[in-house]
Amino acid sequence: MAGTVGSLLDDAAARLSQAGVDEPRRMARRALGAVLEISAAEMLSHPEQVIEDLQVSQVRLTLDRMVAREPLSRILGRREFWGLEFALSPDTLDPRPETETIVEAVLRRFPDQQKPLRLLDLGTGTGCILLALLSELPNAVGFGVDLSGGAATTAQRNAGRLGFADRAHFLVGDWGAAISGQFDAIIANPPYVPDPLLTGLPREVALYDPRLALSGGKDGLEAYRSLTRDLGRLLRPKAFFFGEIGLGQDRAVAAIMRANGLVIDGYEDDLAGITRCVVARAATSAPQKSVGMRRFPV
Ligand SMILES: C[S@@+](CC[C@H](N)C(=O)[O-])C[C@H]1O[C@@H](n2cnc3c(N)ncnc32)[C@H](O)[C@@H]1O
Repeated sequence: MAGTVGSLLDDAAARLSQAGVDEPRRMARRALGAVLEISAAEMLSHPEQVIEDLQVSQVRLTLDRMVAREPLSRILGRREFWGLEFALSPDTLDPRPETETIVEAVLRRFPDQQKPLRLLDLGTGTGCILLALLSELPNAVGFGVDLSGGAATTAQRNAGRLGFADRAHFLVGDWGAAISGQFDAIIANPPYVPDPLLTGLPREVALYDPRLALSGGKDGLEAYRSLTRDLGRLLRPKAFFFGEIGLGQDRAVAAIMRANGLVIDGYEDDLAGITRCVVARAATSAPQKSVGMRRFPV
């Protein structure tokens, strides 16, 4: 049952479309590209290329899993974030493209990228945020914390594979509780889905992302209430906290920050125009010039 690239692509797109998968043709191209190790351009310019039986079977098995709503990133065990490839494990969230907003927010507030910054990433998962930042800040060092030992191990492995093992250190812990010292930037993408909404999540998320990475308690803000308590102690003067938030959580998270002695510096929108990141600083630090894309009155 050998086939050509063109016929396999058409079949794959039709199967994914029938199964109700979003953007079926693009997803079919990604699946073929990953299994056959060919680019989209090659698929389009040489649709007559013959694919051997074994690879045809591999494509079909991959499609079976995609039709059952397993994300392609989980099937492949890897995800690209900030142009870097991250291994996933059952203990890690599959990094989302909108999380790159937080990386941009940090880089905008530290325009001198040669500075020897100290970074802390709370709830590090695959380590994607911290390692993306280290890829842009050659003299920075970073610490990533996760309550999940499996996630911390995956993050450490990603650091090794990406060449940052000497500047990235991962620990198992409950937010910043066991951390001492101070940092120039503290970053967090904590779980923020309100528990009543967990049952309505798409299968791709509910079945494959760990609950520990999603569940934000009754109102989605429990993790923020916990982790904010240590921020004043851990932020250096003039340092910033960057937190990813869910749709419509900006004001509630800002209120938690203020109640813990922080000042809101601004908010950042993602590419869909959703306010995705809150930026705060220690109240005692001198006011900074805002460099956010959008500011609300504080
Ligand atoms: C939304 S995921 C973010 C993962 C990664 N930073 C990213 O952006 O893809 C939240 C992470 O917080 C971790 N987490 C949950 N509760 C925690 C706690 N009490 N202390 C530290 N990490 C925790 C989860 O294991 C998960 O890795």
